Amino acid sequence: MEGNFQLKVKDEIDYEKIIREMTLEEKFHYLTGAGSNCGYTLDRFPVKTMRYHDGPFGLRLRLTSDQKKSEAERKIRSAFPNCQKGEEAVTTAFPTGCALGATWDETVLEQVGEAIGEEFHSHGIHAVLGPAVNIKRHPLCGRNFEYYSEDPHVSGMLGAAYVKGVQKKGVAACPKHYALNNQERGRFSVNSEVDERTMREIYLKPFEMIVKEARPWSMMCAYNRINGVYASEHRELLEEILRKEWGFDGIVISDWGAVKNRAYSLLASVDLCMPYQEQAFAQLKEAYEKNLIDTELVDETIRRLFHFYERTRSVYEPEECDLEKHHQIAVNAARKSITLLKNENGALPVRKEEVKRILVVGESAADPLIGGDGSSRVSNPPYRTTPLEELKRFYGEEVEIEFLGHSFLHTYEHEIGYMEMELAQKAATADAVLIFANQDYSCTSEAIDRNHIELEPYLEHAIRVSRRVSRRVIVVLNIGSAVSTAKWNHCADAILVSWLGGQGMGTAVAETICGINNPGGKLPETFPKDLRDVESLKNYPGDGYKVVYKERLQVGYRHFDANRVKPEYEFGFGLSYSRFVFGNLEQRGDELSFDIANLSDVDGEEVAQVYISFPENSWNDHPVKELRYFKRVAVKAHETVSVHVKMTEELFQYYNAALHKWMVECGAYTIWVGNSSRNLPLRTTKSVTFGYEEGITYETSME
Ligand code: GLC
Repeated sequence: MEGNFQLKVKDEIDYEKIIREMTLEEKFHYLTGAGSNCGYTLDRFPVKTMRYHDGPFGLRLRLTSDQKKSEAERKIRSAFPNCQKGEEAVTTAFPTGCALGATWDETVLEQVGEAIGEEFHSHGIHAVLGPAVNIKRHPLCGRNFEYYSEDPHVSGMLGAAYVKGVQKKGVAACPKHYALNNQERGRFSVNSEVDERTMREIYLKPFEMIVKEARPWSMMCAYNRINGVYASEHRELLEEILRKEWGFDGIVISDWGAVKNRAYSLLASVDLCMPYQEQAFAQLKEAYEKNLIDTELVDETIRRLFHFYERTRSVYEPEECDLEKHHQIAVNAARKSITLLKNENGALPVRKEEVKRILVVGESAADPLIGGDGSSRVSNPPYRTTPLEELKRFYGEEVEIEFLGHSFLHTYEHEIGYMEMELAQKAATADAVLIFANQDYSCTSEAIDRNHIELEPYLEHAIRVSRRVSRRVIVVLNIGSAVSTAKWNHCADAILVSWLGGQGMGTAVAETICGINNPGGKLPETFPKDLRDVESLKNYPGDGYKVVYKERLQVGYRHFDANRVKPEYEFGFGLSYSRFVFGNLEQRGDELSFDIANLSDVDGEEVAQVYISFPENSWNDHPVKELRYFKRVAVKAHETVSVHVKMTEELFQYYNAALHKWMVECGAYTIWVGNSSRNLPLRTTKSVTFGYEEGITYETSME
């Protein structure tokens, strides 16, 4: 295995000398973790222990008793009295992937990544185990709340921005779970069977974009198998594609417990097996004695681990970070994620001068789900704003706010008649009814897939009851992935999605309801009318051994387009309090430009989306259209902003599985521009006459 870098000899550490002096036993130990979140310690050398922690939305860290008593931790705990006093370090809970995905805003992702990098650095930790960029293949995957989108371009662009942010602070990001970990059912062993083109264009694409755009210093291989081979032993994915083709120069870390045999995973170029595995040492020793692995391979792997150490060892000089500043970053990210799905009869915003009494219904107003369950949970945030508290703060004394939460709704859950009567009386005398709806908490958790996409039944009932007596019913969805609104949509004047928006979600939701924040989020996943409309669910969860991705490229909106199925709310959809129009689409050479005008009195932000359709006479089967560019732009009231898109080959590429390479077909492409996958008012054609076969590039002329 050729060395892919030459370690520079630092003034303090001569890595090559260490490699020469290390015993084989030390080397074998170094290839496997020594605990749940730390690497092996080389006592005889000046290379300190490395630490790898979750999660993608904030640091999860149990403090030792000494750390808890430290001056730094004491200062933080006294500065934030609301935090818990247990072993969990006080760390910021940023919005989860579903919310960050709804921002469609690379600037936000980079800011969040940078703040997370700062917090990991302040605790002396080398790697953030994130971002989680698996594709939301269907709505039932329990970890959809952690992932950004059903679309590879959105996932790749946002993931790259996050990685750039984290690594600015000398901390490694670790995109995960490479690859095709798209369900929690059977995740430790299920075999994801997929054709090459689908794998390349949909499931590997986010990882490829991140590696090429942001150069992550680590990557986590998944538990599952891909076409029969465990991800931790998949030499083609890890060595041929990731390292050789994409140029990845970091370390591959296994998912926790994903390694079946340490020698096989080493041969596939997994650099670090996590966590500690007792049998790993014996497996390496036996493989070495049988000449399955040799010193050259072991040393090359150690070199890569030292290169990672060299990139991240500034974490040993931790600097304090500003949790107040990070709270503002978390609030802003939550603000940008809020997605407005419906707004009729002037329901939103609810201006203070318009109302005297507001009825707030639903426990997630007072105790919102700010994140999901499992390894990504951040459990001791310095702040936890709730919609209810923030609504009271913004509306002040002039507006009476009554709250009906768990006690009211669950008490009456079995005596629905009483609930109806009392709720109806209260709703009838309110100027607006806000219903905060969620799913049961098992619907947003690692290791568990959902088996439905309905809200809690008593909350659906509360929406229907409120409709009967109130002229202003607003539903706020505190959810981690698509839900069905079919049963109650007609009863709501407005529907907002707050997602699992982190510690600042309460502020963001309240600001949106009272009109301080103008929502600009867009759906990063399709909301189907019915689960039966989702093609990939016909090939889920598999037979317990394998799951065959028979839908191929038809994932998410690609399927709804190809099969002319109308979704409840389409991929890329989101309303605003502003009114935007698109116009003046022009092409000049390889540049596409268009304008977005804000015809309203309200400053706002719009997400420009550019999709392409392949030539109609193409000899390949292609999706009806595919997102290839997006940009979130701020447009002030009564102003117009121009957007310029450089049209590169990537805009028109597809993966040719016969030639095993990305190609561009010659022909006339349709380019669509708009603000959702089904609202694309501008279109133009681009005839492309370049293409390339084996190393031959024709004259490029795009007219
Ligand atoms: C878990 C998750 C992974 C996490 C790791 C460490 O099983 O799959 O996302 O980072 O283990 O907790």
